[in-house]
Amino acid sequence: MHRVVCPGSFDPVTNGHLDIIRRAARLHDEVLVVVGANLAKEGLFTVEERLTMLREVTADLPNVGVDKFTGLLVDYCRARNVPAIVKGLRAVSDFEYELEMAQMNYRLAEVETLFMTANPLYSFLRSSLVKEIAKYGGDVTSLVPEPVHGRLLARLAQS
Ligand code: PNS
Repeated sequence: MHRVVCPGSFDPVTNGHLDIIRRAARLHDEVLVVVGANLAKEGLFTVEERLTMLREVTADLPNVGVDKFTGLLVDYCRARNVPAIVKGLRAVSDFEYELEMAQMNYRLAEVETLFMTANPLYSFLRSSLVKEIAKYGGDVTSLVPEPVHGRLLARLAQS
């Protein structure tokens, strides 16, 4: 059984995330999409809301599971016998940060990181930009899955 984790903040999940998750699910026996709290970022959605949206948008992928973790990602991987992390790389700007984390995660627990290049359709896409555009009334319909779009508009209307 070859299992990988696909970690992130997913606040909220975008079409770019979903593209990586779908492609990873074709390559690995099981993909665990795990929501971790990035201490540097304040969330628009709670972790439970992010999990709900991830479950909805991956419901058609039988080998994809959704979970959350606290603490170090490598501790989560160790506890579940997961040997590798899958990450999407959008542009060179992602590389330095991702390389640092990949090397640290290997150093900490010999957990490997496998990089997948983003689909060029989504290489400019990140959750924080989606939130900013939606906040100021821009159209993000094509950037996030439909169930996320509805929730995003509802949440921004409350704030
Ligand atoms: O979507 P993001 O914000 O790029 O996700 C980053 C995340 C949550 C995957 C990363 O911050 C993480 O792995 N955090 C868990 C804490 C941890 O293991 N830190 C050490 C990384 S070397």
